[in-house]
Amino acid sequence: MSESLWRSSVKDLDPYIPGQAAEEAKKQAELTDVIRLATNENQLGPSPKAIEAMVKAIQEAHFYPDLTCLELRTKLGALHGIDPENYVIANGADNIINLVIASYINPGDEVVYCTPTFSEYHKNTLLMGGVPVEIPTTKDHKFDLEAMLEAINEKTKLVIVCNPNNPTGTIVEEEELREFFKRVPKHVVAVLDEAYGEFINRENYATGVEYIKEGLPVITIRTFSKLYGLAGMRVGYAMARPELIQPLQRVREPFACNRVAHAGALGALEDVEHKNKTLSDNKREMEKLVKEFRAFGYEVEESHTNFLFVDMKQETGSIGAELASQGLIIRPCAAWGHPTHARISIGTAEQNDKLLKALQEINAKAPHHA
Ligand SMILES: Cc1ncc(COP(=O)(O)O)c(C=O)c1O
Repeated sequence: MSESLWRSSVKDLDPYIPGQAAEEAKKQAELTDVIRLATNENQLGPSPKAIEAMVKAIQEAHFYPDLTCLELRTKLGALHGIDPENYVIANGADNIINLVIASYINPGDEVVYCTPTFSEYHKNTLLMGGVPVEIPTTKDHKFDLEAMLEAINEKTKLVIVCNPNNPTGTIVEEEELREFFKRVPKHVVAVLDEAYGEFINRENYATGVEYIKEGLPVITIRTFSKLYGLAGMRVGYAMARPELIQPLQRVREPFACNRVAHAGALGALEDVEHKNKTLSDNKREMEKLVKEFRAFGYEVEESHTNFLFVDMKQETGSIGAELASQGLIIRPCAAWGHPTHARISIGTAEQNDKLLKALQEINAKAPHHA
């Protein structure tokens, strides 16, 4: 009965399906120790500098946070060489995606992106009464920029490129991306989601920072959830030329980045050592997993993130359930239309070894058809 009162666009939304939370898995399997490789978190945890800053900030929890996050914008400005007024900071990159779409989409406007990708583009487009235009990724699981350009018409308002893409971990060629941004017509706003941008494993590969400096009209999205290990605190940001960023500043709820999260992000930026260790551990462990997965007969896409998109050559729902019963959580990809794929976050050496051992046992029981 009450559903009839909902705004009509809300009725079209599917609830977000998260990776299984560690708490839930523990309860289900009556386990005390759960290894969660389903949500692309940083298993090293937050930087000690971030923790120290957050503990300090919590003493001032009775004060509202700084409305515009001036200190963080200034620090990001110095990091990227893009002026502090060209940022919006909010409650995670999820919130930024929501702000971008709420800022630009009128009912009936089209939003073009590829699938499989991050589900929030679809949800927020529907919420605003917009029309998602979903283009399949290429055979090698990359964003199909040419097909996206072809899909643009007079109703198109936004194009979103998730690079590196979630869940496939792939990147597009740099020159193709630059050309794409140059060719997007003036009535369309380009968005580049770089939640995993810092993990790109190719030297001198240009990111949104360079495109903005080159004067290209692109809104770039980043997060502190992945590289900086602050997924639980919720800090994400957008950067772009002033005229593109201004509507987000108007739509944003006033205190979208809380005092403790703001302090944590500042502390995290101080700790270059922690950042570098995250990147080098990730690279080493990823190489190990790729090698072992290929030895199992799985197909693995080259990844530029902190996770792998793995074709296990058999339905991954049951493997996921079997692993979960042992306290290992991965992300089967049937919901993305890839029933034999799983998205597996890179864990610590010890966690990955446990995963490999468990998979070896599962494979020995029921060998797959490679
Ligand atoms: C591509 C992509 N964009 C945005 C987000 C949201 O990140 P946040 O934790 O900052 O909300 C994620 C999270 O997994 C993601 O994969």
